[in-house]
Amino acid sequence: MTSGEQSSANDYVFRTEGLTRRFSGFTAVNSVTLTIPTGGVRTIIGPNGAGKTTFFNLLSGLLPPSEGRIWFKDREITSLLAYQRARLGIARSFQITNIFGHLTVYENVRLAVQAVHDGKANFFLPARRMGDLATQTERVLNDVGLSDAAGARAENLSHGDQRRLEIGLVIASDPPVLLLDEPLAGMSPTETHETVDLIQRISPGRTILLVEHDIDVVMAISTTITVFQTGAVLAIGTPQEIRANEAVQRAYLGELV
Ligand SMILES: Nc1ncnc2c1ncn2[C@@H]1O[C@H](COP(=O)(O)OP(=O)(O)OP(=O)(O)O)[C@@H](O)[C@H]1O
Ligand SMILES: [Mg+2]
Repeated sequence: MTSGEQSSANDYVFRTEGLTRRFSGFTAVNSVTLTIPTGGVRTIIGPNGAGKTTFFNLLSGLLPPSEGRIWFKDREITSLLAYQRARLGIARSFQITNIFGHLTVYENVRLAVQAVHDGKANFFLPARRMGDLATQTERVLNDVGLSDAAGARAENLSHGDQRRLEIGLVIASDPPVLLLDEPLAGMSPTETHETVDLIQRISPGRTILLVEHDIDVVMAISTTITVFQTGAVLAIGTPQEIRANEAVQRAYLGELV
């Protein structure tokens, strides 16, 4: 991400200006002006409570800002609701509770794909992105590595497989922009490795916004890293630049020195 002001609409997915969110007097996101370029894995890191999830909620429309403005490509979306932003192709991971436990993995993915076919989720996406229902369902299952588990009831999956199914439900609509908030939380090393592979597999042709605490993973897969601290942007740069940034080391990455 860069803080450049001159980007044209095709260069970025999101642009924020003075974006602020307060919770009864407490400022969780504090006047963030940021441009998030198109493509790549754009990661946000920062200590607990830095405002990362709140920032995601502002981008996806789950929360309205207290102040400031947001653009998606060339369109101002500040006052659009979450479902309207989803229709523009902004998808975010849901909680596991959005998985239908009593249905099979295949049925869960098919329902998510079908929502797109019915025009409920991504009305504005070109039809060529959708394809045939069964083909698209199988493609998603393959992408998330759950083809072999297609017939299993979702509630019987391991935690890691449920998180991958969750990502499958997000990519079912083939969204150009994905927001993933701590997709590796609670995963075993093997599950983490598989999910990192998955994120890399689904990233070409998309922009992935990632919030993640696993710093080794962050350094390995991020195109750029934005460091949040107390609701504001402390630093932006490539993994190498962030690793070398003294303010970041002092505030957050001391263990990397
Ligand atoms: N709905 C809310 N009501 C009141 N305070 C909130 C609310 N949501 C977040 N906060 C507060 O805003 C601050 C930022 O929270 P946020 O969840 O955005 O942090 P985070 O960077 O995602 O942290 P973590 O790494 O722990 O997930 C925290 O102090 C949190 O307690
Ligand atoms: Mg969070």
